[in-house]
Amino acid sequence: MQPRCGNSACHVLMLVLCLSAAEDFDWTKNNHGSFYYGTFPTGFSWGAGGSAYQTEGAWDKDGKGLSIWDVFSHKKGKIQLNDTGDSSCESYYKIKDDISLMKEIRLNHYRFSISWPRIIPTGVKSDHVNGKGIQFYDELIDHLLENHITPIVTLYHWDLPQVLQEKYGGWQNISMVNHFNDFANLCFEKFGDRVKHWITFNNPWSMAVEGYETGEHAPGLKLRGTGAYRAAHHIIKAHAKVWHTYDTQWRAKQKGLVGISLSGDWGEPVDISNQKDIEAAERYVQFYLGWFATPIFHGDYPQVMKDFVGRKSVQQGLGTSRLPVFSSQEKSYIKGTCDFLGIGHFTTRYITQRNDPTGRSSNSYFTDRDLAELVDPRWPDPGSEWLYSVPWGFRRLLNFVKTQYGNPMIYVTENGVSEKMMCTELCDEWRIQYYKDYINEMLKAIRDGVNVKGYTAWSLLDKFEWDEGYSERFGLYYVDFRNKNKPRYPKASVQFYKRIISSNGFPNQREVENWRRKAVEMCSSSNQLLAADPLTSHMEMVTEIVVPTVCTLSILISAVLLMFLLRRRN
Ligand code: NOJ
Repeated sequence: MQPRCGNSACHVLMLVLCLSAAEDFDWTKNNHGSFYYGTFPTGFSWGAGGSAYQTEGAWDKDGKGLSIWDVFSHKKGKIQLNDTGDSSCESYYKIKDDISLMKEIRLNHYRFSISWPRIIPTGVKSDHVNGKGIQFYDELIDHLLENHITPIVTLYHWDLPQVLQEKYGGWQNISMVNHFNDFANLCFEKFGDRVKHWITFNNPWSMAVEGYETGEHAPGLKLRGTGAYRAAHHIIKAHAKVWHTYDTQWRAKQKGLVGISLSGDWGEPVDISNQKDIEAAERYVQFYLGWFATPIFHGDYPQVMKDFVGRKSVQQGLGTSRLPVFSSQEKSYIKGTCDFLGIGHFTTRYITQRNDPTGRSSNSYFTDRDLAELVDPRWPDPGSEWLYSVPWGFRRLLNFVKTQYGNPMIYVTENGVSEKMMCTELCDEWRIQYYKDYINEMLKAIRDGVNVKGYTAWSLLDKFEWDEGYSERFGLYYVDFRNKNKPRYPKASVQFYKRIISSNGFPNQREVENWRRKAVEMCSSSNQLLAADPLTSHMEMVTEIVVPTVCTLSILISAVLLMFLLRRRN
């Protein structure tokens, strides 16, 4: 149990208690530079991932209903260059091709998500179940298993059926809990004989904050100071319900696991000797990962969230806290609903204390935290604006999970780095460096006693990157989105990741250095193929568009001429 108390001195105490619980991890040391050569435990699972809306395409094919992302991305001005996921990587049509890519890397698992509106077009199960949608996921799962690749399946990676948004307001409405449970139950029924790893939600922090607070993501609502908390409250309840459904109705027969995938940046105090900074950094992590993990592992929101949001709500003259409250029955129903914890992690921030304004107009999840985020300008920053490479933060986050939540079984469900659109460089040395260092920090965390069972590189393919469209590429494989066949080309990181997998870690410095050199050598030939692609696309255009158009026009002109000649003869 977490200690319960109400003042900030108590938080300091809690932090000290938590930190001292991790006997084998020294939080005061930042030995950033060292590299550890060694291997992962036998049976460690190596994978890569993607999600339905980001990769499938076929947005309106075979009876699929609309999702909030279909609608949001079709509105002008929401996505970089007004891109959409309409066709994306066309993975809907490329199951076999993509599985060959996975086999090339020798992946143990592949993480993908099921599009709710593809199998239940309106989101309401009693309306209609789409057989073709079920068939698509059946085939994907079967092909993966035939190739000895374990499916790790996310039930919800952000693509809520649009009808549920329009009718009920999406995750602002408690009725989502039952609709989501019906959808999950259908998935257990149809696929649970073969799928043994289920993730209820992917990154609910983004769903809540970017979907309902800042409005940068679908459904694009800006309900500052309340929307994210309300959405999160319903998401947590929905997660718990689905876990119980599996537990009571399917577990005995199917023997699988149900978890949730939470994302969390690490927050490091700017000054580790300053108590205010230590508390602020703790708050940063509690408002991020702890917001969801604490109810799921301990039954209620982190005390620090209840204190801060509660106090600010009072100062704003509100009768109740903007952070909703769980009843005691709900607390015990939610507590312990996690067979494994999925962790999505990309980056770190330095955190310092800052008193944010408390007025009603400045209401927001962000100002509730009273802190400022900083970055070190020396941190590498190859792609996405928010993504700095800070490998040591990963080890710290994993140790935090171990100490705070009773050393749960962890699967790293997302970790990786992007590059910007203009860069068609397949020789992605910076990605090799990122993977090498982050995976190494994970290895150190395992040595610290953190129970990590698997790792998922994010992502297998370049894909639709939400509000950034196609401008940020996370893939191990480059996808040529200009070509309608969406060909895939291996980046150098494919070779490097493949070596890590085949050695189950990092054998020694000489070998690891060799891998890097060879990977970079090999990628230049893929670069040549990619460079030749505009020519190939051009030739395809000639055969597929120009030739038929010229033929049709010739036939039409001949017919007109013939008619003209016949008339003159008469
Ligand atoms: C987390 C999201 O779950 C995933 O869909 C996205 O691609 C990555 N962040 C990178 O932005």
